[in-house]
Amino acid sequence: MEEEVYVSYKYYSFIILYMANISQLILGETGCVSYLIYCNNKKEVAIIDAFEKYEKVIEDELKKIGNVTIKYILDTHTHADRRSASLYFSNKYNTGGIVKSSLTKYKGKMIGTKDNDILKIGNSKIQIIFTPGHTYDHNCYLIDKMLISGDCLFIGDVGRIDLGGNYREKSDLLFDSLRKLEKLEDHIRVYPNHVGAAHAIDSEDTFSTIGNEKKNNEALGVKSKDDFYTYMTEGWPPKPDNWEQIIEDNLNG
Ligand SMILES: [Fe+2]
Repeated sequence: MEEEVYVSYKYYSFIILYMANISQLILGETGCVSYLIYCNNKKEVAIIDAFEKYEKVIEDELKKIGNVTIKYILDTHTHADRRSASLYFSNKYNTGGIVKSSLTKYKGKMIGTKDNDILKIGNSKIQIIFTPGHTYDHNCYLIDKMLISGDCLFIGDVGRIDLGGNYREKSDLLFDSLRKLEKLEDHIRVYPNHVGAAHAIDSEDTFSTIGNEKKNNEALGVKSKDDFYTYMTEGWPPKPDNWEQIIEDNLNG
């Protein structure tokens, strides 16, 4: 019996060592979230969706993890509500540019991705899932059993499609992107770019699962593109202040 416990402990330690860790950094009252993904074994880190004025939150967390190598800086998409700090971190840690969809109009130095590309963080893989709709350049990132879902899939909602571009086209793209996410295993955890009441989302939870969203998310329950377009164009909150300028600034790098 003792040996069994020891073996399972060893196995558990092995799994822990080879699974990526996540730090979910909820940025004050904004409800916006930055993420750090890191490998405990090799101490490599990826920073996802860093924002101006909240750089210190990330720096403090890096110190807490200790002795890390920053390997990648990733954006899920070009944000319209907040200025990105990804360029700051990419320059500071010399990561060779920001990881973004190769379809982005970003003018700075970047590492362009396409659907199903893989990046490595220590012993873990980051799988790129191209999920346009909220923006034309939206990526979700799947790491082990965790999905960084950006503004594609929220807890109980999905990202708006009315901040630039052609609404019908973006609604159809988002519809198809959600079908991709639905195919993931039910136990995959969903970590969005906005949480809590600050984003007109009722839930106080900070993460969800694909299974829960398939059960409870109204937008995922809409199964025709026409109905989805109606859903996506009715009853959305006001647009963020200066959203066009913020997009422009984020694209300029
Ligand atoms: Fe967004």
